[in-house]
Amino acid sequence: MKCRVCRAPGVIDIRRHNANFCADHFLRYCREQVARTIKEFDMAAPGDRLLVAVSGGKDSLALWDILLELGYDVDGLYVGLGIGDYSDVSGTYVQNFVSTFLEPRGERSTTTLTHIDLRSEYDYDVPTAADATGRAPCSACGLSKRHLFDKAAREGDYDVLVTGHNLDDEAAVLYGNVMKWQIDYLARQRPVLAAENGFPKKAKPLVRLSERETAAYCVLRGIDYQVEECPMAAGNRHLEYKHALAAAEEASPGMKQAFYFGYLRDAAELFEQSNDGAPDGAPALLACESCGSPTSGDTNGQPRCAFCRLSQRAAAAEPVPVELLQTRRR
Ligand code: AMP
Ligand code: FES
Ligand code: ZN
Ligand code: ZN
Repeated sequence: MKCRVCRAPGVIDIRRHNANFCADHFLRYCREQVARTIKEFDMAAPGDRLLVAVSGGKDSLALWDILLELGYDVDGLYVGLGIGDYSDVSGTYVQNFVSTFLEPRGERSTTTLTHIDLRSEYDYDVPTAADATGRAPCSACGLSKRHLFDKAAREGDYDVLVTGHNLDDEAAVLYGNVMKWQIDYLARQRPVLAAENGFPKKAKPLVRLSERETAAYCVLRGIDYQVEECPMAAGNRHLEYKHALAAAEEASPGMKQAFYFGYLRDAAELFEQSNDGAPDGAPALLACESCGSPTSGDTNGQPRCAFCRLSQRAAAAEPVPVELLQTRRR
């Protein structure tokens, strides 16, 4: 197994590209894939300020590192979700990355990390919110994260909010949306969404890299990351879709990329057009009376966003540790 570029011994094979790489050329390959994606989808312009949401996992830490290597002006945002030890450990990996990778970078150490903690700043955590509202944990988690990401990007005046969703994530979400024919989601699954209605521009620059590649990137760069799955992920459909696609990819390398990029090339626009013609259209957005975020929801005629409704109910409830939530949900 020799590197496709320099013929030195290879350290990784990428079957869908029928290529092997040495460590150095693999790191360059990852950066080139990200640079190509940003350009192809017009994700960021020179001089833009980026905010990357970092979870402590391999994808978002690799992404932060790659964006800095590519010369972008990018800060990090970590949200402590209060999912027991899992969140504490994830936060430690983010902190370690900052102290071992960012601070020694000299002139580039101007990059900052914002840490938002749900329990100390909003008086709730994800397990308590799931319990208090009867929502699935991932739904309470996703709602909280989306709101805080948007708010941080707006308040920090960032041009783009970037996340570490990779090819496996996006192909699995697409697979789920197709299985259920979720036309409204299929109309919004491009890796870049323009800023609109007070929401920031959002981009997923890792969609050309698989999770095996982002893991290898971190190992070769010496970036330590959270390897555990979220304890509330068990039974999550997304994981089932990932397994189904992994089996298809194993039998036919390149299938996942063909599925996702084929959708972007040939189908995304059709779903966008059919959604534009929806008879009810999108409801007008108002400012949430409590936090000012754009919202279509209301409580007794007062505009009130889903985050404020969720966080208020959860903050009024007795804290529920993740272990207790798990026994209650069994
Ligand atoms: P997930 O939904 O856990 O697959 O994460 C998708 C992306 O969301 C990650 O790659 C990160 O960019 C971001 N993300 C997830 N969890 C957090 C978190 N706790 N704090 C900040 N960003 C996060
Ligand atoms: Fe759904 Fe963590 S809350 S995976
Ligand atoms: Zn090489
Ligand atoms: Zn609100």
